[in-house]
Amino acid sequence: MNKDILFTPTKLGALELRNRIAMAPLTRTRGNEFGVLTDVAQDYYGQRASGTGLIIAEATQASFEGMGYPRTPGMHTQAQQDSWQKIVERVHAGGAKFVSQLWHVGRIAVDVNRGQSADVVAPSAIRAPGQMFTTANGMLDHDMPRALETDEIARIAGEFAQSALNAIDIGFDGIELHSANGYLLHQFLSSNVNQRDDRYGGSIENRTAMPLEVLDAIIAEIGADKVGIRISPGHTFNGIEETDMQELYAHYLPQIEKRGLAYLHVMRPMVNTTEIDVAQLARKHYSGKMIVCGGYDASSGAEAIEEGTANVVAYGKLFIANPDLVERMRKDGPFNELDEATFYTQGPKGYSDYPSLAG
Ligand SMILES: Cc1cc2nc3c(=O)[nH]c(=O)nc-3n(C[C@H](O)[C@H](O)[C@H](O)COP(=O)(O)O)c2cc1C
Repeated sequence: MNKDILFTPTKLGALELRNRIAMAPLTRTRGNEFGVLTDVAQDYYGQRASGTGLIIAEATQASFEGMGYPRTPGMHTQAQQDSWQKIVERVHAGGAKFVSQLWHVGRIAVDVNRGQSADVVAPSAIRAPGQMFTTANGMLDHDMPRALETDEIARIAGEFAQSALNAIDIGFDGIELHSANGYLLHQFLSSNVNQRDDRYGGSIENRTAMPLEVLDAIIAEIGADKVGIRISPGHTFNGIEETDMQELYAHYLPQIEKRGLAYLHVMRPMVNTTEIDVAQLARKHYSGKMIVCGGYDASSGAEAIEEGTANVVAYGKLFIANPDLVERMRKDGPFNELDEATFYTQGPKGYSDYPSLAG
């Protein structure tokens, strides 16, 4: 497979990219309990900007209520925005475009991880299976969530919109709304975690209403051409079931397309539970610009672009281990070995100390 197409420029809404290689959003827990990233993140992102078309920053909260894992960043306080602003400058100096992925973890939370306490909330009062690492007490069960009141959805949409505006104000080129991987928006979409009997639960139309309301609030604030959205159809991570997955996305995707976003980002499940090729499924119901992610290399990424499934390909683990991934792809390697043990630790080890070819 000729991989040259990966290195050609393209446009996603307002985002003009010098090539079709994106860094996937990657939670790395290098902040503090108040969601402020430490300075080491400037090196990490700055190193990965050289040569790259687009960097999608790690999942970032719009409120303390939206925080779950330890030391994940936010976009809702001044100190958080100040730490991001320095990173934005580094990424732009390297020539990459930079978008902020905004999330709310919903029930995937333990309140003790938050510098400021908040309720743990979800579509319904159903505890998530499994445990989470806490800095204070090691592994703990997820907290029992409280079901959100109907009129709280507008508040949450407003918090997302404000954080989107904050991101643009400090120089981000756009935002990506996180509607994947079992977090709050995906919890609303699901057929098992969402057991509501108000206008946000029950039918597929109702289950997609909350994510679309959040999307509309963000669009109203910063404009659709700077907004992307990430989905992960069929991903059972964090206890999610979509028993009507085909019908769900057959409704959700045309609704998203109508809004004229910069892009749709489709993630292939990391926990592989479906025989269906979700990138193809998404393409069937969405004709706009698409980013695909999940297990691609240079050759299969180029193929996804050539066959018309994708416009841009995002790489996760390859970017963790290779700060100069684009250069290495041009040269067909070599690629550094990945150290999974340092995914969620602190400090530069396994974060900003992977070597580049230039040394
Ligand atoms: C350490 C780690 C952190 C991740 N954090 C996020 C995240 O913050 N937001 C998100 O949407 N996906 C996250 N993912 C999923 C990646 O964006 C990507 O979809 C996944 O790694 C598959 O792509 P790959 O095969 O190229 O690594 C994470 C994955 C890893 C390994």
